[in-house]
Amino acid sequence: MDGNLPHAGEEKGSSGDTVESCRRALAATVVSGELPPETESLVGKILKDYRLDPKGIHGPAHWLRVMDYGRMLGEKNGANLKVVALFGLIHDARRLSDHHDPHHGARAAAYARELATEGRLRVSSRDLDLLCSACEGHTAGRTHPDLTVRTCWDADRLDLHRFGWEIDPGQLNTPEAVEFVSRPETPVKNFLIL
Ligand SMILES: [Fe+2]
Repeated sequence: MDGNLPHAGEEKGSSGDTVESCRRALAATVVSGELPPETESLVGKILKDYRLDPKGIHGPAHWLRVMDYGRMLGEKNGANLKVVALFGLIHDARRLSDHHDPHHGARAAAYARELATEGRLRVSSRDLDLLCSACEGHTAGRTHPDLTVRTCWDADRLDLHRFGWEIDPGQLNTPEAVEFVSRPETPVKNFLIL
């Protein structure tokens, strides 16, 4: 998937149509088979509903990187890749602020259930419950009994790199993520701060 992603550095100096580039990249993930087919139309709705600056720190470029990190981790540890990808797409989509917004995870979970009820998001009840658990707890949650939820949280935390922050392995939940941040070649400060 990495080749499909509009990494932050590629956005700089582009036409500025971040939403469109992310829509195309997200659609490409559907084509690659990572997301259910109906997700392509779902992407348009989620982008339309997003209330913050799409170039902001919690916008679509971040969602795509979380999806990318989640896939990397999930391919190693056997997490549910569809749930992990949908988490990347939805977990910050209902933020009302790029700053303190303690209830955005709960809103994202409610949004996922709403989309499922409307038939826009077709996942099993088991996958929807996992997705909602991951969304609800992704900010304050420290650990979780389910591997897929832990993988979702780590995928989000690995993108703290975008702030130039070194990631504390103690905040991670999977050995795959801990191994990733411990690699000497893992970038720490060379991500564009959006
Ligand atoms: Fe996030």
